[in-house]
Amino acid sequence: MTNILCIGAGYVGGPTMAMIAKQCPQHRVTVVDINQQRIDAWNSDKLPIYEPGLLEVVQVARGRNLFFSTEVDKGIVEADIIFVSVNTPTKTFGRGAGKAADLQYWEKTARQIVKNATGPKIVVEKSTLPVRTAHAMERILNHNPSDIHFDVVSNPEFLAEGTAIRDLEAPDRVLVGGRETESGQKAIQAVADVYAEWVPRERIITTNLWSSELSKLVANAFLAQRISSINAISALCEKTEANVNEVAHAIGTDSRIGSRFLRSSIGFGGSCFKKDILNLVYLCESYGLTEVAEYWEQVVKINDYQKTRFVTNIISTMFNTLAGKRIALLGAAFKADTSDTRESASLDVCRGLLEEHAQVILSDPHALKNAKADLGDLAEQIIFEPDPYKAAQDAHAIGLMTEWKMFADLDYQKVYDSMVKPAFIFDGRNILDHQKLFEIGFNVYPIGKSPLSHLDEEGNWQ
Ligand SMILES: NC(=O)c1ccc[n+]([C@@H]2O[C@H](COP(=O)([O-])OP(=O)(O)OC[C@H]3O[C@@H](n4cnc5c(N)ncnc54)[C@H](O)[C@@H]3O)[C@@H](O)[C@H]2O)c1
Repeated sequence: MTNILCIGAGYVGGPTMAMIAKQCPQHRVTVVDINQQRIDAWNSDKLPIYEPGLLEVVQVARGRNLFFSTEVDKGIVEADIIFVSVNTPTKTFGRGAGKAADLQYWEKTARQIVKNATGPKIVVEKSTLPVRTAHAMERILNHNPSDIHFDVVSNPEFLAEGTAIRDLEAPDRVLVGGRETESGQKAIQAVADVYAEWVPRERIITTNLWSSELSKLVANAFLAQRISSINAISALCEKTEANVNEVAHAIGTDSRIGSRFLRSSIGFGGSCFKKDILNLVYLCESYGLTEVAEYWEQVVKINDYQKTRFVTNIISTMFNTLAGKRIALLGAAFKADTSDTRESASLDVCRGLLEEHAQVILSDPHALKNAKADLGDLAEQIIFEPDPYKAAQDAHAIGLMTEWKMFADLDYQKVYDSMVKPAFIFDGRNILDHQKLFEIGFNVYPIGKSPLSHLDEEGNWQ
């Protein structure tokens, strides 16, 4: 039996460890966190995060070989392998503010490990970290008075929120990086062996430490770049009567390009893409690679541009004034099937509309609590309404913000009948049947496609 500990019971620590515990009943898996409320929630059937299929996986293993606790020190003493999955947000102060990763939680954890360990351990970087962080970690861990040896291994997580269970059950690959020393190679093997219980060996990639750390940042940068690329083209489509869906399909059939991640939208969100690209930009800048830094920074700039463009389009379409108008935003989560609202484009649109003194009604099946917390003081100006039909009632416009299936399946005739006319709909995800909405009577504004409007240039019914 191996004693596995995970420090950090968040969106990554919770689901990954639940999957390891489910697949490896011979190992004991403990997940610890300083947040008592989170741990209590993990120990209940009301988990702290919404993720399809997660509760079922937790229920298989919890109490058998999966435990959630706040006893960090005790967990460290007992562990053979320690996964560290604490948050690594963007720094908000000092050198690198706004770009560099804030490693304070990581470093505190490393120091806590040294303080409590009574024997050798493998420390696994599960959090996303700047390349060469392991070097600093090794120095903190291995300069200890008891001469205890620690091996640092990088094992970045590639799960996507909303499909985390599917991604963990059958990952495209598992990446494990470590030192080329004998003990480093043994540590790589120990971590790889855990995954090999259910992941085919050929899908477990082993590399050196730096390649592994850097690959995670690069993977997120490439994914976000695809979204910004198609979103940049969506702006051109709107000027030229080309249809971004048709363009995406036409280019995506080229096997060199591939069809995935070419869906145009209001822009990417989530806790990772922006943070990890800015981290990459900061790294490049600190190595003097100005051109490389500027190249990647543009991915974030286009994403901001897409969100601003969306709000500007709403303002100009609705006769250049939103003051006092009711606008129902359907979706607060940064994507479907998650309760996570970190960096959600919906909340940025929300802020933009509030600046114009619109009355915003925000609707979401699972993310309203997080949205309220993320919006801070602004939350007082917003109506939070889980029922989309009620949210749309007496609204001048609807903004489709998150691609929840339930929003695609609404009875839009019923929605239209309850709205103020002329009724506008801005499909920020391009998931609705635009022609059908137009026939119902809506003025329809998709992304990267010509609008379908019953109004002429002066705003009169045609
Ligand atoms: N969310 C994702 O989809 C995703 C995917 C891949 C990688 N990552 C990376 O994984 C890491 C964690 O992300 P997350 O979304 O799970 O973050 P999160 O904020 O949901 O969870 C982090 C947890 O760590 C806990 N924590 C912080 N310091 C601690 C300490 N000293 N001791 C014990 N617990 C402590 C916090 O209380 C929190 O519950 C980040 O580096 C992120 O970039 C996230």
